[in-house]
Amino acid sequence: MPIYPLRQLDPARESVDLYDQWLGDLGEALARGDDRWELCRNVLTGIFHPHLASVDPTRLPLAAQVALAQMDARNITLEPEYYFEVDVEKFAERKPLLWMWQMFDKSPLGQNIHLGVRFRRTLAPYLFKRVGKNFKCFHYVEFSYGYNLEVGDDVVVHRNVLLDDRGGIVLGNGVSISDFANIYSHTHSIVDQRDVSNLKTVIDDGVRITYHATVLAGTHVGENAMVGAMAVATKDVRPYHVNVGIPAKSVRVKPNAPPEAYKLTLRKDATAKSDADVPASGEGAGED
Ligand SMILES: CC(C)(COP(=O)(O)OP(=O)(O)OC[C@H]1O[C@@H](n2cnc3c(N)ncnc32)[C@H](O)[C@@H]1OP(=O)(O)O)[C@@H](O)C(=O)NCCC(=O)NCCS
Repeated sequence: MPIYPLRQLDPARESVDLYDQWLGDLGEALARGDDRWELCRNVLTGIFHPHLASVDPTRLPLAAQVALAQMDARNITLEPEYYFEVDVEKFAERKPLLWMWQMFDKSPLGQNIHLGVRFRRTLAPYLFKRVGKNFKCFHYVEFSYGYNLEVGDDVVVHRNVLLDDRGGIVLGNGVSISDFANIYSHTHSIVDQRDVSNLKTVIDDGVRITYHATVLAGTHVGENAMVGAMAVATKDVRPYHVNVGIPAKSVRVKPNAPPEAYKLTLRKDATAKSDADVPASGEGAGED
């Protein structure tokens, strides 16, 4: 297969200057510690209802008043704040930014890759537990809390991904998550839905979780491993292994794996649900 690096391109110069100015103002407001609820309300009103920004809402028809109310995160609730163990204080700090992120994505601005990636990069350090350099996130990505999400350097998250960080998610350096993938860190008892286990899910450096794949709570995907399209990773994935299917099983070790990859097990500090040795052949990597 040929190597296809991404093309370098930018939108029109004037628009880039405009975006830089707008994002610069937003970044400065966050760094100054401006009131995040007001910031969210102003940004979203500016995007969705700029002509109503200085109108007395009580003079508007009821539907318009309701529409304007959605610009203020104090007037809405999000699913994760109903969760029993939510850290109310940490969530409140992030809620206006979470809402701003989600509503930005639903606007025309959110579909613009150039602007969208930079906008999310501006918000991410204030939302996540940790985020490294060059974070690249496309539209319609959802988180639970944000404060339990750790992101390494050079991570790419494509559109429509769910990162349920309820029990904690760690994404190592160079991780890539494809469209419509789901990464969970909580699960429910099959007997009682209210019996919830929060389990940290760890995706090591260089891993690719490919499209429509799901990684279940508490799973550890070892470095440079890959979870194939539509797979459901119910158990740990060994480093350099390619796991596919439901439940996901290893079909091969990557050809660029070091010889020891055939024997590699997950790091000791990991939750090891499966770390059996594999045959010394690139293909048919064996039972998980
Ligand atoms: C996982 C993947 C990389 C495997 O590629 P590969 O190493 O070239 O493996 P092969 O195509 O030789 O397949 C090996 C075996 O696994 C099966 N297999 C491959 N991908 C599978 C998948 N996603 N689900 C189920 N089985 C799969 C193949 O049918 C084959 O089975 P067989 O040995 O019985 O014939 C690839 O199939 C895949 O899922 N790619 C995801 C692409 C993607 O999401 N890209 C993101 C774009 S942003």
